[in-house]
Parts: sequence; structure tokens; C-alpha cells
Amino acid sequence: ISLKPYNTFGIDVFAKFFVSVSNIEDLKQVLTLKEYPDKLILGGGSNMLLTKDFEGLVIHINLKGIEIVSENDDFVTIKAYAGENWHEFVLWCINNDFGGIENLSLIPGNVGTAPIQNIGAYGVELKDVFVSCEAISLEKKTIETFTKEACDFGYRNSIFKQHAKAKYVITSVTFALSKNNHKLHISYGAITSQLEVMLVTQPTIQDVSKAVIAIRESKLPNPKEIGNSGSFFKNPVISKSDFNTLLQNFSDIPSYPVSENEVKVPAGWLIEKAGFKGKQFGDYGVHKNQALVLVNYGNAKGLDILNLSKLIQKTIKRLFNISIETEVNIL
Ligand code: EPU
Repeated sequence: ISLKPYNTFGIDVFAKFFVSVSNIEDLKQVLTLKEYPDKLILGGGSNMLLTKDFEGLVIHINLKGIEIVSENDDFVTIKAYAGENWHEFVLWCINNDFGGIENLSLIPGNVGTAPIQNIGAYGVELKDVFVSCEAISLEKKTIETFTKEACDFGYRNSIFKQHAKAKYVITSVTFALSKNNHKLHISYGAITSQLEVMLVTQPTIQDVSKAVIAIRESKLPNPKEIGNSGSFFKNPVISKSDFNTLLQNFSDIPSYPVSENEVKVPAGWLIEKAGFKGKQFGDYGVHKNQALVLVNYGNAKGLDILNLSKLIQKTIKRLFNISIETEVNIL
């Protein structure tokens, strides 16, 4: 079957075998099928670039459900299953006035893949509300629980991208959210200005979500219209001394502090400065409003986009002596 509807880049590659599983027992069984040694676990398909047909079995994780595990006057603990769409889960929380993930509105993908890269936006990361997750070990076929500490979250990083990579399927995630006295994260410049545009002076979590949605819609292409995987690259972290050297040639280069000796530089700025922003090559290119996002305008091949990403990496290395890493998984 074609995987085009199952990846937000909209790349048309084929999988020889495909199964969508909606309960954990079925998932366990499918994972033990010896006839299909090559298995690809597919969640929301929002963070991958498919570059070739897949000869094995694609397992689409379609586990659904949202449960309140416990609550008191101030907090609620919620378990959401891996196949729940992330943004719909955020909206469900906002409708129930549960606070903590409003800044993560409109991020593509599913609940189960959110911990893998510790999704983040506008000053909030998944780890800030994460309690634990459950995952099936591909080797033992048993369910294990991972605490926040065990996940070892970092910037767009967790153990599921490191030593636990391709060893587990996350089946559910448990969150701790606020029920009142919501702690808003609105210091990010774009949010402050958007709330002003909306004439909001006493923002609620609903307002923050609306502001984030407006900002994302203005900068980021909607994958339903233009195929993409959000940020294609991670923002590189460089030493302060390298940054000071760059400042001599590029006095307007932005940066964010990371540690005493390191700063993070927006890859979008580097890519724009290198002249790639808005460039279109046939069916693929670099988004016009956010240079960090590579896009598929129709029938791009995964390899076209991969080659463009390599050209961008080489150019950034040559111009700024900075290596930028992909954020998206290449398959
Ligand atoms: N910039 C440019 N040109 C561009 C894009 C960005 O010059 O085309 C510069 C501007 O100076 C801007 C700065 O980069 O002020 C930061 O841009 P933006 O606020 O759009 O954020 P970002 O660093 O490019 C990161 C995340 C996004 C997340 C936003 C907001 C990464 C890799 N990306 O982008 O996450 O939405 O911050 O918090 O960290 C994603 O991961 O898929 C994603 C979209």
C-alpha cells in the first residue's frame, strides 16, 4: 500500500505489508510475527522522511483512549494512548481547562511519538508535563514503564533517540496538568505580540493556545496542504568563542544562551542567510516563511528532499563552519 497518507511529508512510497493495530494484545501478537523480520513502527508519521519503498511490515499504531488517572483540587494526571492525535489531545485538555500543553498546540504527530524527540515550542517542552510512559519492549514483548528521569530528555532528544532507539514501541503517555492557577508561558516574543493583537490582557490557556495556533499558521505550512515535517534541522549549539568569531562577519546573527560557554543559533537564520529561504526546485523546496522547514509541493521524492538537505548542510558548513543535524528521521 502507499504510505502517502501516513507521513506528513506526503511522500509516495510503498510498503509491502501494512497493519494498523488498535489494542495492545494485537500489537504484542503482531510484533511476534516471525514471517516479517523487517518491521517499521509508524505513529503520526510527522517526523520522518521516507526515501524508499519498504519491503517489510509497517505497523501503524492506532491505540486510542484518554483516561484521568487521578486528580486533586489543583492537578490532574492523564493517561493518553499512543495513537491519539497530539493536537486533538491538546484541545481536549484545553476544553477541560487542564493547563500545561497549550503552547504545544498544533504540533503535528501523535501522543506516542511526542516523547521520542521531546516535542517543544514557545518555551514549553513535553518533559515539563511528562510523568511517565509505557512502552512494549520489542525484544521481550512486555510492557515497561519509563519515568521522566529514565527518559533522559534533552533538546529534541530522549533515550528513544539514543540507546533505546528502535527497541520499544510507546503505547501510552501519562501527563500531569494543572486544573487551576495555570502557570502560563507567555514570555516568548511572538506570543506576547500575538496576545496584544488579540487584545487579550488577562490571558487564559485558551488564549495562549489560540495565539500559538495563529503564530504557527502564519509561519509553518499546514501538512494537509503542503507536505512537510516541521523543522527539518535542529538548532545547532556552538561555543561562545566560535559565536564571537562569527559575529565579526555576521553582526546580526541571533543566539540564545544554553550554558556558560555555549549558545544556540537558529538554523532558520543560517539557512535564510545562505539564500535558501523560499527556494523552490520543482516539487520541493524551502518554505517561504520559515527556512527551517523543507516542503513537498506535490510529488517530490524523498531522495530529492534528502539531497536538498545535504546541500543545505554543506553550504552552512562552508559559510559558517557550523554542522547542522537533521531533526527528522531519514528512512
Ligand atoms: N529565523 C530566520 N529565518 C527563518 C526562520 C527563523 O532568520 O526563516 C530566525 C529569526 O531570527 C527568529 C529565530 O530564527 O527570531 C527563531 O525562529 P522561530 O521562533 O521560528 O523558531 P526556530 O528556532 O526556527 C524552534 C523550533 C520549532 C518551534 C519554534 C518555536 C527547533 C528545531 N525548532 O524553531 O519547532 O515551533 O522554535 O518555539 O527547535 C519543530 O520542531 O518541528 C518546530 C517547528
